[in-house]
Amino acid sequence: CGIVGYIGDEEATPVLINALKKLEYRGYDSAGIAVLGTESLIVRKAKGALKFLEQKIATEIIQGSMGIGHTRWATHGEPSDINSHPHTDVSGKIAVVHNGIIENHAKLRSWLEGHGVVFRSQTDTEVVAHMIDFHYNGNLLEAVQETLKRLEGSYALAVICESDPDRIIAVRKDSPLIIGAGDGENLIASDVPAILEYTRDVYYLDDRELAVLYRDRVEFFDEEGNPRNKELVHVEWDVAAAEKGGYEHFMLKEIHEQPKALTDTLRARVKTYSNKTIHLEEIGFDASWAEASRVVITACGTAWHAGVVGKYAFEHFARIPTDVDIASEYRYRKPIFNPKDIFIIISQSGETADTLAAMRMAKKGGARIIAITNVVGSTLAREADLVMYTWAGPEIAVASTKAFTTQLMCVYLIAMQFGSLRGTISEDELTGYIDALEQIPAQAESLLAHKEAIQRFASQQFNKTKAFFMGRLFDYAISLESALKLKEISYTHSEAFAAGELKHGPIALVDESTLVVAICTQSALFDKMDSNIKEVKARGATVLVITYEGEPYFDGTADEIFRIPRTLDPLTPILSVIPSQLYAYYASLQRGLDPDKPRNLAKSVTVE
Ligand code: G6P
Repeated sequence: CGIVGYIGDEEATPVLINALKKLEYRGYDSAGIAVLGTESLIVRKAKGALKFLEQKIATEIIQGSMGIGHTRWATHGEPSDINSHPHTDVSGKIAVVHNGIIENHAKLRSWLEGHGVVFRSQTDTEVVAHMIDFHYNGNLLEAVQETLKRLEGSYALAVICESDPDRIIAVRKDSPLIIGAGDGENLIASDVPAILEYTRDVYYLDDRELAVLYRDRVEFFDEEGNPRNKELVHVEWDVAAAEKGGYEHFMLKEIHEQPKALTDTLRARVKTYSNKTIHLEEIGFDASWAEASRVVITACGTAWHAGVVGKYAFEHFARIPTDVDIASEYRYRKPIFNPKDIFIIISQSGETADTLAAMRMAKKGGARIIAITNVVGSTLAREADLVMYTWAGPEIAVASTKAFTTQLMCVYLIAMQFGSLRGTISEDELTGYIDALEQIPAQAESLLAHKEAIQRFASQQFNKTKAFFMGRLFDYAISLESALKLKEISYTHSEAFAAGELKHGPIALVDESTLVVAICTQSALFDKMDSNIKEVKARGATVLVITYEGEPYFDGTADEIFRIPRTLDPLTPILSVIPSQLYAYYASLQRGLDPDKPRNLAKSVTVE
């Protein structure tokens, strides 16, 4: 989502709309504004792209020189007029826009309902408006501060109130927010492009910091309400660079967004009472789902690779027979259904034609469907029985990165939950697994900090005419995804092999022009991988090994080693794919291509 705010001497509405236009790349399923006119708060919102909001207000004059706005990428509640932001309290005096996820929204919602509040939307954000109203005692700042004490999750918020008409309050935690400092006017935005037309002087709000914007000044406070001094930063970016957060391409930006996306996807689903447990009630998951006799996973492309990891994960954690199939194959087979089958359908867009056809077929066969998707309100989300969202935010680069790793996070959570309900993992084991999952976002961050090593290697190897990825078990699944990434954006002929299959054919292709990437994170199979590496090296291949930090096993055999932080062997895919994403990206650049827009490919394939 993207949020904006304006306070100054100009009419707020055109400024808000203009700023929102620059943030549409952050989400575009609905939009809204709240403007404080001379007398009252005016709220207008509309489902769909920003232009629908513009059409809605085209014949109106909305006067007022302060306001807030929002362009939405739904996380809770499908795109609709009602679920669009801003959200207001019952009296319509307080308006809020929000980017992020309020993790304890269900608890707060029932608490507020217990106090007589009637909710209008299905969003997590509406609780914030009612909470602020609940704490409002004539001082908006205090009401917001009190409310923040009760919020768990991530948020960038902007709040205005009819009875406090000369200021906007903004606050952030784990979601971006900046303040643009103008001359007699101040602005709020999720991101720099929104404000560049008005000012290049920016304050970057830190986590848990709160800003109060007046027309002529901005005051900052820490969590305890102590005033803070902040440094004004002058930004030089042009709009195109700013949209990409300063990165050269959306793909690189999205690779770097993975730690945050993984945190968002994981955090709301884990609770700590006496032990750490996984909570999927939000998606309607209960013990009856775990009685499945078989799990069938169906998807296309990158999402199918998440499904291949899923097969290994379900067998490992939940000991359930699991099949994984490509949707375009599945839909034309004569599959055998069992009423106790659970289908997991994975799709970033939720609109892929083959995937939807496979889902409908399974539904018709009587199976129950769990969808994993990134798009709230997508066809898949609407038609599945249960939906688990990857909270990756919009993914713009055609080659999928953060959508994939968050799909993996969902797959692990579901597999572990199945396992804990079926008694195949103990409480202590579950705690250990969750601990390991919780470390992964920071581990991904530390991995990204070494991206120059991959860039250097790509600059030496990008001309190789063949690239083969090989691995066993979870590493085989990631070999599939790694080979796809490289072929998608660098047009290198790349393939993936189960390392044990090498001798049954692929090794005939290996020669000096071959780069072999051996993914080696399954400790019990290191010696098998080592033999495979020696076999390809003997035929002249250059070998890159991806293995753990501090792991000496391949030191003597590999030409180059990329290391990932140590985690449990079954959880490595989320980390081991990142070097391959980066390698593909840099190889694409080296070949003079645009990694965001590969030839012949589309982000979402809605036709057969
Ligand atoms: C297209 C995209 C891929 C994606 C696949 C499935 O081919 O280019 O990146 O993995 O579709 O898309 P979905 O939206 O169903 O995950």
